[in-house]
Amino acid sequence: MLRALHAIRDDFPLLQREINQAPLTYLDSAATSLKPRQVIEASNRYLTKYTANIHRGHHRLSEEASDAFEEARDKVAFAINADKQCTVFVGGATEAINIVASGIEVFNGAKILLPVSEHNSNIAPWMRLGEVEWITPDEGLHFSLENWRKRMDEVRPKLVALSAVSNVTGLAQPVKEICAIAREFGALTLVDASQAVGHAKVDVSDLDCDYLVFSGHKMFAPTGIGVLTGKLEAIKQLRPLVVGGGAVRVKDDGSFALLDLPARLEAGTPNISGVIGLAEAFSYVEALGYDTTGAYLKDLSKYLVEALSDVGSIETYADRVDPTHPIVSICPKDFCINADELSIILSEEYNIFCRSGSFCAHNFCNYLGVGGNLLRVSAHIYNTFEDVDLLCDSIRSLEPHYCA
Ligand code: ALA
Repeated sequence: MLRALHAIRDDFPLLQREINQAPLTYLDSAATSLKPRQVIEASNRYLTKYTANIHRGHHRLSEEASDAFEEARDKVAFAINADKQCTVFVGGATEAINIVASGIEVFNGAKILLPVSEHNSNIAPWMRLGEVEWITPDEGLHFSLENWRKRMDEVRPKLVALSAVSNVTGLAQPVKEICAIAREFGALTLVDASQAVGHAKVDVSDLDCDYLVFSGHKMFAPTGIGVLTGKLEAIKQLRPLVVGGGAVRVKDDGSFALLDLPARLEAGTPNISGVIGLAEAFSYVEALGYDTTGAYLKDLSKYLVEALSDVGSIETYADRVDPTHPIVSICPKDFCINADELSIILSEEYNIFCRSGSFCAHNFCNYLGVGGNLLRVSAHIYNTFEDVDLLCDSIRSLEPHYCA
């Protein structure tokens, strides 16, 4: 299986690039994944063969583009088991969360419960809306269901928002069970699946959440395209953040009425090439098979956690119990350089690319007591165990120069 997956590296043109006559080791997929040529070609076909606006013209190119756009919606909705009518294309997860947070009208001042590990995009919109309360890990980096139940009982929030997978630790939350607990307490639920799609099959109906959002660019699609979906009645109640062409019809008296979903939440010309690329990205992972990629990612995660834990000069923040997503953050604790400097040296001297800082999760980094001094290693299906070895060997080779 591993060998078969090695062959898919040829699908990713960026991996053919060299810098200073040496290959690249891309370990920043939690920020954005590399794009396979199948996705690039699908988006390019629209840009080169049938560029036209959608749902606005009756000429041939417009019909072709509109058909491709709606076929892409069918594809994406089917892939995540969502209702097509409430599979809304947006710019990304951040925009989708803002649409929800600004669109729920009955909410002012209500309590919203968030894990302390959330990304700023799943914090800031809620702070505008109501009073944010936190749930902190109770076992290592884990949030147990008992802990969730206890906090729900204490806080009695109107809404619970959480990421399916942490962008700092790779920890997957038991989303379905947490949504069930939230429902028992009468709270709405929003799941940010950005770090989960592309790693594992996401089934919106099975999760039974009110809202689910994700960005496409972490799952092989272009940037600037994402999805807002969930339950029809929950999406229907949202007051659109943006109104305009494509989302309204003009009534006889000259006033406007909102169109039905999904159009009412898609005002303006959408990212047509991005939508087509996103649908192709789903086709790409489905052709590889979630069982195959999931098994490989699990092995890769385990190898990554163990290999980094063996490097004595760094501290590893990882889910050691059940590593399922290859995202691990490390603190260069014995180094006299910080994580930003380590990232630059790995980039300049070894062509190894990892993100440093606090990954827009400042709250969590402060909770961990590391501020912005983290280097994140995030792998995907195109990474090999050799990439992990190269990273660990490179960090070790820097120890004599930069450790006290
Ligand atoms: N949210 C992305 C990250 O974690 C950008 O790096």
